[in-house]
Amino acid sequence: MKKGLFVTFEGTDGSGKSTQLELAAKYIQEKDVEFIQTRDPGGTPLGCKIREILLNYDGEVAPYCELFLYLADRAQHIDEKILPALNEGKLVLCDRYVDSTMAYQGYARGLGADRILQLNRIAAKSLMPDLTFVFDVNTEVSRQRVGDKKDRLESEADDFHKKVREGYLDLAGKFPERIVVIDANRGIEEVHQDVVKVLGRFFN
Ligand SMILES: Nc1ncnc2c1ncn2[C@@H]1O[C@H](COP(=O)(O)OP(=O)(O)O)[C@@H](O)[C@H]1O
Ligand SMILES: [Mg+2]
Repeated sequence: MKKGLFVTFEGTDGSGKSTQLELAAKYIQEKDVEFIQTRDPGGTPLGCKIREILLNYDGEVAPYCELFLYLADRAQHIDEKILPALNEGKLVLCDRYVDSTMAYQGYARGLGADRILQLNRIAAKSLMPDLTFVFDVNTEVSRQRVGDKKDRLESEADDFHKKVREGYLDLAGKFPERIVVIDANRGIEEVHQDVVKVLGRFFN
């Protein structure tokens, strides 16, 4: 049985997920809580190989191939890393998880978020986050922060990223019990303070 707390960091590319996860980890370290930091895809050695294909493969990738690669990565990730940590009572901080798959493959690629949730239940043994931060930024801010060095998904057109963003906001409406949307157009420290306010509920 799962005992730890599973927290995921979500948002479009350049929304500040990785930055905020690092800051959250520093905050938690001070609280003396046992935790791990991980990322999806690529949280395991096998997952790193899958991540390499997902982010850098330069040929056409069929939408369902892409989806199942993400789910394959996740199946390995939860077995090898996330569930063992949660079972030991640890807090797990994960950079992207199921909401990314629903936003990118479900909404933006049009495969349908509900269907992805069903498939994710199989791949991820129904493991859902206890808490999810969605860092919301407008397209212009996101574009500026990503810069010119883009991976395969970051290279998608603006319309794709717009759909991803709308997808996340729709998901936040569907899962209000676990998703917290944070305005991430602001400075790093301001955004971090909002994260701390929410995380603090679990520690104080
Ligand atoms: N709130 C912020 N304001 C300004 N720049 C930011 C902010 N958050 C992140 N950045 C910068 O934007 C870039 C992308 O941030 P990152 O955390 O890697 O985003 P993500 O992991 O969501 O793609 C980095 O160069 C980071 O330093
Ligand atoms: Mg990142």
